[in-house]
Amino acid sequence: MVITAPARYTRTAIVLHWLIFLLLIVQFIVGWSMPHIGRNTPVTTLISVHFSLGVLILALIVVRLAWRLTHAAPPQDASVPRWQANLAQVVQWLLYLLLLVVPLLGWLNASYRGMPITFFEMFPVPPLLATHAAGWSWTGDIHIAVAEYGILVLAGLHIAAALYHHFIRHDRVLQRMLPGA
Ligand code: HEM
Ligand code: HEM
Repeated sequence: MVITAPARYTRTAIVLHWLIFLLLIVQFIVGWSMPHIGRNTPVTTLISVHFSLGVLILALIVVRLAWRLTHAAPPQDASVPRWQANLAQVVQWLLYLLLLVVPLLGWLNASYRGMPITFFEMFPVPPLLATHAAGWSWTGDIHIAVAEYGILVLAGLHIAAALYHHFIRHDRVLQRMLPGA
């Protein structure tokens, strides 16, 4: 009996991919629009939305990773050169890693600053550290640097690759991640 693997991602993987993409766009816009966070900055609505959205993205990434680890990706298109398929894997797994590391660093930094975190004011999210815990002040700078130089650069490469497949190579790589088609 021949078992043919599905040529596209599962509906759950596709919904999670595009939902997280949209939430990330909103999250960067909120992050760049909210007041700069200093020593005595009050937690304004936008800052609170940044924390809530970040916690939501973190929860969705955990679900997505659990789904991915239990549901294999569709087999790679045979026409894609080996090195490109390998590079795509490295970029995609690094994105998963950074999507865990960035919100965790944000959560650590908000905790370090003693700022209250809630999930859309529905319930409190506990701090990960005591306020001003020694040795944790770096978390804010690294949170921002990894978000802006890590996630944005890798996502840019990833999106450019997806567009290259679709518009230049005219293969089915993009379709694997599109709803419907
Ligand atoms: C994937 C999720 C996240 C992304 C992409 C993200 C992105 C950003 C960005 C771009 C900034 C820079 C804002 C500026 O230019 O001043 C920022 C700042 C900040 N974010 Fe996030 N964030 C995420 C999740 C979180 C979470 C979950 C929390 C807390 C629960 C958080 C807390 C903070 C704090 C405290 C700052 C200010 C850091 C500082 O200036 O030292 N972030 N975030
Ligand atoms: C216009 C935006 C985007 C397009 C067109 C796009 C397209 C795609 C495509 C076609 C795949 C499947 C690749 C394959 O089958 O080898 C994929 C997978 C993936 N994408 Fe995107 N993507 C976009 C944005 C993003 C963003 C912003 C992120 C995260 C920051 C992201 C993270 C991922 C990850 C982690 C995978 C791997 C899926 C897996 O195998 O588990 N994508 N994307």
